[in-house]
Amino acid sequence: MKKKIISAFLSVAMVASVLVGCGDKAADGGQTAPAETPAEAPAEDGGEAAAPAAGGAGGKVGVSMPTKDLQRWNQDGANMEKQLQEAGYEVDIQYASNDVPTQVSQIENMINSGAKVLVIAPIEGDSLGTVLEQAKENGVAVIAYDRLIMNSDAVTYYATFDNKMVGTKQGEYIRDKLDLDKAAGPFNLEIFTGDPGDNNAQFFYGGAMEVLKPYIDEGKLVVKSNQVDFDKVATPGWATEAAQARMDAIISANYADGTKLDAVLCSNDSTALGVENSLASNYTGDYPIITGQDCDVANVVNMIKGLQSMSIFKDTRELATQTVKMVDAIMKGSEAPVNNTDDYDNGTGKIPSFLCEPVFADADNYKKLLIESGYYTEDQLK
Ligand code: BGC
Repeated sequence: MKKKIISAFLSVAMVASVLVGCGDKAADGGQTAPAETPAEAPAEDGGEAAAPAAGGAGGKVGVSMPTKDLQRWNQDGANMEKQLQEAGYEVDIQYASNDVPTQVSQIENMINSGAKVLVIAPIEGDSLGTVLEQAKENGVAVIAYDRLIMNSDAVTYYATFDNKMVGTKQGEYIRDKLDLDKAAGPFNLEIFTGDPGDNNAQFFYGGAMEVLKPYIDEGKLVVKSNQVDFDKVATPGWATEAAQARMDAIISANYADGTKLDAVLCSNDSTALGVENSLASNYTGDYPIITGQDCDVANVVNMIKGLQSMSIFKDTRELATQTVKMVDAIMKGSEAPVNNTDDYDNGTGKIPSFLCEPVFADADNYKKLLIESGYYTEDQLK
């Protein structure tokens, strides 16, 4: 209830800042939402949300990441740990091997060992209700990190990237590269999205399909596999191997006779990698347009080689910075910057969110984006 009142109060102020990226700009812009302070959290200054800095409120923060298998979560985890420690917090960070019971028991341990705030990227948005009840009873605040935690009123804030914008950029890329408004077509498209239990996957798919569906409906884009609906194109666990196996089957049934595949919408880099592996062993024509997300090393290498067309860069350093501001605000009983109070309802109400801006990446801009910014070294991309 409290969240809904906060949302209504803030919705006007938020509109102006939705497109603002993840930097200090938004924090300085004064768009703040009152934090729900855990019972025992000290209310030190009651003032504005402070930027993370040594000498923060102190205390223990539990960070629960889904898996070490995908590159991005290792980066997220490392950035969170570093920035929280720099801000003066003790950090308990755990990776759950993409196994829900493991994530639940790791979170239980964090609560039992005195964490005051939990930062959680859930494996499945819907599977943490019971353990988060326990968090709430113990006065432990919860921040949903990157992926929304569904159907739990223990969630105070959500820090993520603009997930719909990710999909929109992928869809627009395919539209523009194929020149769908002018070219006669038809063009062949296949579609790969993410794990059905990850709330983000719906946003990525939805954003892209809003752009592409009209062309599918008019017949300018043809999905020869007929696999278009979300449940048909989802990839359990976002697993590269699952995407690869599905692509193998699609190629052998539809493209083995030399039929040209023009584009593959992939919601992220792990699925794109599966598609690229499959094409490498099964497809003889020119590589289709392939989208991705995360700028994982293997995919950037493929972009440089011309095997993947684009990716979306989500600077996990910036996401960590925003999340640490949320932790700091909760610990101090003050307010954290948010820039969206409308789009992310977890089933218990709208969660005050900070959406970082996803950035387009390809072989032309990767050096500036990824190397000059210090995200990767040149050697890592060889
Ligand atoms: C993240 C993506 C990531 C995917 C698989 C999603 O929730 O937002 O960046 O590629 O999970 O790990």
